Amino acid sequence: MADDTKIRGVGVLGCGLMGSGIAQVCAQAGYRTVVREVDQARVEGGLGRIEQFLENGVARKKLTAEARDSTMGRLSGSTSVDALADCDLIIEAIVENVDAKRAVFSEVEAVVGPDTVFCSNTSSVCITELAAATRRPDKFAGLHFFSPVPIMNLVEVIRGLTTTDDTYRRVFDFAGSLGKQPVTAPDRPGFIVNRLLIPYLLSAVKAFESGCGTLEDMDTAMTLGCGHPMGPFTLLDFVGLDTTYYIANIMFEEFRDAAYAPPPLLKRMVLAGRLGRKSGHGFYQY
Ligand code: CAA
Ligand code: NAD
Repeated sequence: MADDTKIRGVGVLGCGLMGSGIAQVCAQAGYRTVVREVDQARVEGGLGRIEQFLENGVARKKLTAEARDSTMGRLSGSTSVDALADCDLIIEAIVENVDAKRAVFSEVEAVVGPDTVFCSNTSSVCITELAAATRRPDKFAGLHFFSPVPIMNLVEVIRGLTTTDDTYRRVFDFAGSLGKQPVTAPDRPGFIVNRLLIPYLLSAVKAFESGCGTLEDMDTAMTLGCGHPMGPFTLLDFVGLDTTYYIANIMFEEFRDAAYAPPPLLKRMVLAGRLGRKSGHGFYQY
């Protein structure tokens, strides 16, 4: 008899910075993977980024040309949720906005089977709230990857109030099957890593605004002084200023703690479209 609980096909919602990385590692681990984006240009842009990363990996002798080709062979993209109908697991990685996430899960729920497990890669939205908006709150969990997904080894696995032990174990084991190290994190905004990282990044912006130093000097200070791989402004541009701003707002709303309050400069940069690397201009120009 076929094992109904086995994950064979994975659907990834969103193929931006995170969705493309998540789709890549799923396909590399042998899962048939379908991404869904809002338009064809974004489908092609996301799949193109994956192909480029794999190509660079071959050039660096990190993977073979055969592994690159078989990974790309397991990947496909669409603008329609119908393409996700056969998926056993859905991983949502769209904009950090609760209404948009609820809406996309409701679209997917109309086409997938009742046993399909839903996960969100949200950084800060309440997992229990997203689960409650579906007809499968027992089969819903948080699965939080780190950027760049193919390189960073950690995945936080989050149990909502309604997540069953069985769903939790399947999602935890799935993260392990990608070659990642899963850790259990609480259903509180920011989970573990962002609970600590976001106040640090926000405090860097506040310190810059109050004249602490130049962007370059502050970045150099944290890389050379603390051994961080990136200084705070390089990392902010890398994560995305919009995403950081949305996360900070959600964390502030939940905790009512000034450490999570987005600084005025961050808000204005997002309003001006200076989103970091993805828009070509953030604290630095690219
Ligand atoms: N294919 C395969 N492997 C590759 C690769 C490719 N295309 N490109 C790079 N790699 C490998 C390299 O070979 C190298 O591995 P080894 O050490 O085993 O040789 C490793 O990846 C690092 O590559 P590089 O040496 O080229 O890159 P780097 O030293 O400049 O580091 C970085 C790049 C990993 C991004 C590093 O700058 C870093 O760790 N930055 C911080 C990232 C971070 O903090 N991420 C978390 C953000 S917060 C988040 O994600 C959560 C949220 O909710 C906001
Ligand atoms: P991004 O802006 O790079 O990509 C989001 C993508 O989602 C866009 O390409 C957009 O077109 C697409 N999208 C929007 N609505 C959609 C829909 N209904 N269906 C399909 N696609 C849709 O953002 P990102 O940095 O990849 O962040 C995505 C999620 O991952 C957010 O929840 C964020 O908090 C989380 N996250 C981000 C990071 C990071 O470092 N940026 C790390 C971990 C988790």
